[in-house]
Amino acid sequence: MKQIVIEGENELKGTIKIGGAKNSAVALIPAAIMAQDTSTITNVPCISDCDDLLEILTLLNVKATLTDGKMVIDASNLENKVIPEDLSTRLRASYYFMGALLARFKYVEMYFPGGCNIGARPIDLHLKGFEAMGATINKENSKYIIKADELKGADIILDFASVGATINIMLAATLAKGTTVIHNAAREVEISNIAEFLNAMGASITGAGTSEIIIKGVKALHGAKTKVIPDRIEAGTYIIMGALLGNELKVEGIIPDHLAILFSKFSEMDINYELGKDYVIISKAKNIKPTNIRTVVYPGFPTDLGQPMSVLLTQCQGISLFDETIFENRMGHVKYLNNMGAHIEVSGQHAVINGPTPLHGEEIVATDLRSGAALVTAGLIATGTTIINDVEHILRGYERIITKLSDVGAKIKIIEI
Ligand code: UD1
Repeated sequence: MKQIVIEGENELKGTIKIGGAKNSAVALIPAAIMAQDTSTITNVPCISDCDDLLEILTLLNVKATLTDGKMVIDASNLENKVIPEDLSTRLRASYYFMGALLARFKYVEMYFPGGCNIGARPIDLHLKGFEAMGATINKENSKYIIKADELKGADIILDFASVGATINIMLAATLAKGTTVIHNAAREVEISNIAEFLNAMGASITGAGTSEIIIKGVKALHGAKTKVIPDRIEAGTYIIMGALLGNELKVEGIIPDHLAILFSKFSEMDINYELGKDYVIISKAKNIKPTNIRTVVYPGFPTDLGQPMSVLLTQCQGISLFDETIFENRMGHVKYLNNMGAHIEVSGQHAVINGPTPLHGEEIVATDLRSGAALVTAGLIATGTTIINDVEHILRGYERIITKLSDVGAKIKIIEI
């Protein structure tokens, strides 16, 4: 078991370089098996989710290597095997093999995916999409058996603009017969990254990034090259840390437009920052104005940044409201923030945060990936020592977090206990 140990109150100075987006990479990798030959994905983040995907590729008889962020995937000998439950439940994104394998073989057996315990996270919208394209679905305990004589293009209206369902349906529709239109599609920037890759592979997809995506099915896909876009959530987390502890902290390799909502909130809160073409420079802010955060679908405030942001709200001059609207269980970190001295009242997914409150070090637990990021942020501003347990969650999504933070002056280490 690993723990993260932080000695707080050290300023952050220097440059943090942002890696590839977790939520893009974990979809691009399964998408690559839809080609008959070799694809190359660069800027792959160094996170355990990508290592798990590599293990799945090997199991499917796909030759894959990952060196210095470059993943080469040769799917010419792809085999349709069942991914064992213990592997598919290690991460959420294993569900993208449903769409990809269904597209290639018209048959897939797949266990319910894993991922953070932040709500029920059903996959009914993915399945309804496959059914609309002509697939039949049977469930044996937690395993789905999905088959189709032929996948046919369909008009699909999503009840909710789900990121996972949009991508999974897009994958399956790429090799379907005829045209699929996804209405009320998710608009997250990662979806455009996947669509551009599929198009480079020979697919015909338009409208990605809008709420109507049109996919004209093609017969086969060939290998292609793509680059993972920068991780806006990793960037947002470090930018929030910069507003709390920065001394001209530079967060580099970002696409500022992808973080527009965070910067607009900062302006509202009187937090200054200097924005460049692909970077932001930020210093510790004084007299931060309180604000209200409501997590919604893109381009609204991202649910994945809500928990780190809530730590910043504990340092505002007055009462802020924090509402999580996407998942049912994203307040796991609040108990620990309160142990550290925060003053947060929670009711369901609504929190009232009374600031500013100094925080002190405690032994705490990362309940999920983003709660872990929030607790690291809290540990960095707290007095004394913070010890975080269950840090495997954090390592699933933040590449080299210890090195990146140590390099800019944080006193942070990971230990094996
Ligand atoms: C993805 C991201 C996750 C992010 C989330 C929202 C990946 C691997 N994960 O998760 O980091 O927090 O988008 O931006 O990319 N829902 C259903 N039925 C479905 C699908 C979803 O009810 O079939 C519900 C979910 O329970 C949730 C909401 O829709 O309440 C949003 O889920 P979705 O956008 O699908 O998130 P994920 O793909 O799981």
